[in-house]
Amino acid sequence: MDPNVRPETMERITTPELAQKFIDEQIAAVKEQVGDKKVLLALSGGVDSSVVAALLIKAIGNQLTCVHVNHGLLRKGEPEQVITVFKDELGANLIYVDAVDRFLDKLAGVDDPETKRKIIGKEFIDVFAEEASKLEGIEFLGQGTIYPDILESDGVKAHHNVGGLPEDLQFELVEPVKLLYKDEVRVVGKALGLPDNMVYRQPFPGPGLGVRCPGAITRDRLEAVRESDAILREEFEKAGLAGKVWQYFTVVPDFKSTGVTEGKRTFNWPCIIRAINTTDVMEVTVEHLSADFIDHLVKRITTEVPGINRVLIDYTPKPPATVEYE
Ligand code: XMP
Repeated sequence: MDPNVRPETMERITTPELAQKFIDEQIAAVKEQVGDKKVLLALSGGVDSSVVAALLIKAIGNQLTCVHVNHGLLRKGEPEQVITVFKDELGANLIYVDAVDRFLDKLAGVDDPETKRKIIGKEFIDVFAEEASKLEGIEFLGQGTIYPDILESDGVKAHHNVGGLPEDLQFELVEPVKLLYKDEVRVVGKALGLPDNMVYRQPFPGPGLGVRCPGAITRDRLEAVRESDAILREEFEKAGLAGKVWQYFTVVPDFKSTGVTEGKRTFNWPCIIRAINTTDVMEVTVEHLSADFIDHLVKRITTEVPGINRVLIDYTPKPPATVEYE
């Protein structure tokens, strides 16, 4: 039996009871695989790595070391939430790496989208490998591979930020959710007690806010993306749209236009809002937000986010546009 093929008899995990059964089975399997050895896990705070972290903590406790790399392109509050949930509440062995300056310095002046992605991916592997090399006795690498990653790629997590480790850091993989679909991973995460805003979070690209700050990333424009994204998420939550709309985010493009604030002329960036729905990601439709809601968003973003004097709504489906801007 191929361990990377989901057996036809495997029941779809849709209830807390089925999730608990899966968790119990995986705890036993991980204990059997790992024994008394140590496991390392790159914990981004996304759904998949968070669920694997919570599962491995249950199975092997402090034999697990999690590394959370803050590359400066995460959403507002995410690194803090990883620390609160995993270190403070679950008692994980968590290494937090503040690599913000390192990433942003490397990205300074780089405007080509593919080069930006490559720098983010390579830098991530370098930082993770450096942390791994400081630790002794690690024999296993935990990974949040899920079944679509196996179906869509060659079995390696199709995550742009965890592409592969250097030769001298090759570990045996521990991939407890590799046969699960995304909805099942969420049910398991919920059963493991992870917070809803972690379990039901919208898709987020590996290069993070970096692709929503098109062209060469500057710290001030990146902050405008992060702050406007935080306002958008807060308002979607309040309006009961979080979890209903598939993906919603802001983009701050690299051009300025004239404006006026309190009688003074400004020359600032626009903020673009994109809210979309899809079932297969190949085709995407636009969520039609109400006029009152848009008015409210425009008011908050233009008054609260430094550097923004205009709000635009992206009404383009995919195709012809992609979801992200780079
Ligand atoms: P596009 O822009 O290709 O996006 O229409 C489709 C979906 O994929 C997400 N996306 C990414 N996810 N690394 C990821 O892990 C990436 O580099 C990346 N680029 C796009 C995007 O957010 C959307 O959900």
